[in-house]
Amino acid sequence: MNNLVIAVDGPAGAGKSTVAKIIAKKLNINYIDTGAMYRAITYKAIKENINIEDEKSLIEMAKNTQIDFKENNIYLDGQIINEEIRTLTVSSNVSKVAQIKEIREIMVDLQRKMGQKYSVIMDGRDIGSYVFKDADFKFYLTAGANERANRRYKELKEKGHDVKLDDIIKDIQNRDEIDSKRDFAPLVKADDAIEIDTSNKNIDEVVNDIMKYIN
Ligand code: CDP
Ligand code: CDP
Repeated sequence: MNNLVIAVDGPAGAGKSTVAKIIAKKLNINYIDTGAMYRAITYKAIKENINIEDEKSLIEMAKNTQIDFKENNIYLDGQIINEEIRTLTVSSNVSKVAQIKEIREIMVDLQRKMGQKYSVIMDGRDIGSYVFKDADFKFYLTAGANERANRRYKELKEKGHDVKLDDIIKDIQNRDEIDSKRDFAPLVKADDAIEIDTSNKNIDEVVNDIMKYIN
């Protein structure tokens, strides 16, 4: 029997991970946060004092890094790093790391292997357009940049991070720009993806919209 693959793409704060987690539970399939993989590599680079401009060292490091998902936890070289990867420091560097073709190839290889092993709902930037071009379902979530920044600000504040709304707006605009302009597998809506503007929708409404297509 073939595995079910559901791709959810879109820019930061569009609601991808929140919605994908709920749908994974409903369908009893695995949720894979591909952004967390690029964040994990970035987190490790910062921790090891590797210069973010030094592509060669970053690639070498990525080749010697183990990333796993178990029960919605992300493991970096055997350690759970769910919270460590959510800081603004990681956010403001991750898009630079994610531009590097060789690093993307390592991550995409892992992502494809996961989709071959079990049914997944995977969220990211290039899942429907590149990683799983033949996904069973493709969704592209959007919302205005200010709305997305406000959501992320609220979320980080609630988790106790000391952040300023202005810095979040800048980070989101900066990542939107780098992610959509990079040469290799940029952020783009796949031609056959269903686009959902989540600006004026709550989480349940977005989940229901998606479930209507899947059912
Ligand atoms: O959670 P948020 O939407 O802020 O971002 P994320 O999904 O954690 O992704 C962090 C960054 O990883 C993005 O801004 C992209 O630079 C990169 N990324 C990517 O290039 N390709 C993916 N499939 C997923 C994330
Ligand atoms: O994964 P992505 O970066 O696309 O977004 P997210 O992390 O799922 O959502 C960012 C924040 O927006 C979370 O705190 C969600 O609860 C919130 N959100 C919302 O308020 N309304 C939506 N329709 C979707 C997400």
